[in-house]
Amino acid sequence: KRPAGAPDKALARPVTKVGVVGAGLMASQLGLLFARRLGVPVVLTDLDQERLDKGVAYVHAEVDKLLGKGRISADEAAKLKGLVTGSLTKDAFADADFVIEAVFEEMGVKQQVFAEVEAVVSPECVLATNTSSLSVSEMAAKLRHPERVVGFHFFNPVAVLPLLEIVRGERTDDATLATAFATGKALKKSCVLVKDAPAFVVNRVLLRMLAEIVQTVEEGTPIDVAERAAAPLGLPMPPFVLMGLVGPAIALHVNETLHEAFPDRFPLSGKLAKLVAAGKSGVYRPASGGQQSTLDPEAVE
Ligand code: 3HC
Repeated sequence: KRPAGAPDKALARPVTKVGVVGAGLMASQLGLLFARRLGVPVVLTDLDQERLDKGVAYVHAEVDKLLGKGRISADEAAKLKGLVTGSLTKDAFADADFVIEAVFEEMGVKQQVFAEVEAVVSPECVLATNTSSLSVSEMAAKLRHPERVVGFHFFNPVAVLPLLEIVRGERTDDATLATAFATGKALKKSCVLVKDAPAFVVNRVLLRMLAEIVQTVEEGTPIDVAERAAAPLGLPMPPFVLMGLVGPAIALHVNETLHEAFPDRFPLSGKLAKLVAAGKSGVYRPASGGQQSTLDPEAVE
């Protein structure tokens, strides 16, 4: 059955090579997912060799874990490792038909990245963005072919969480959208078509909840009490652990985007900003034990 709003799948173009801009936490998870599910070459790019090496090393380590769990054979592991490579130049994207960016969450940076990619790829190559909250239409606006830009928003951990928000920008054409849906399906994700609105759907809801729980701590409720009180909501992990997983910097960024769009509904969170400013590691153990976050407890208490 075709997902609501998805165009005819006959319009989808084949994806035979993938480019990933960035080799950070999200980008390297994407590199592994595309190689594993599509079985095509995936090239990661980043600003320097160190980041690139770290991204490729992450993929190799995850492949070894899959092998260790017996999920893939030794041959498949070797093939997967061979499929994911790193390159310092975007020229390596020349024959890619699907490029996804997962770089710093700033409009100017993302527009610049897409302009650089557009200079080397074919006019049909899909340019996808994994942005958490920024406008897909604005990201595409300055390109020669804005019709091939689409939002492709994954959730952390990418290998585990099934949802994929697909975002149609103002000028995204049917062939691009059909290719995005076909690719999402091949990645074994549950694809939903969402409106190009600030933070789409999931992050808007999530941020409202996280900002409120941070606010209760700001008002004096101890963290462990706030987390225990939130337990009946049935979240898969305690809210502060989740923030450690997503990264307080990303959470703050989504908060800022939403504040700009809806100032009355999304006040800026001073505690979130403090967490990001603290920026150092530290382990917060929820009273219930179990999962740990990497938040600095002094920054929130
Ligand atoms: N990377 C890869 N795999 C991971 C992982 C990670 N970071 N964390 C857990 N996994 C895998 C485990 O290896 C395990 O796989 P297996 O079944 O093959 O052994 C499987 O996930 C289940 O893990 P566990 O048994 O250790 O733990 P849980 O059952 O508690 O699940 C969880 C862990 C999936 C992380 C779960 O706690 C969860 O869903 N948490 C909520 C995450 C969430 O809400 N993410 C969305 C954040 S918002 C976002 O990303 C958007 C962005 O724009 C900000």
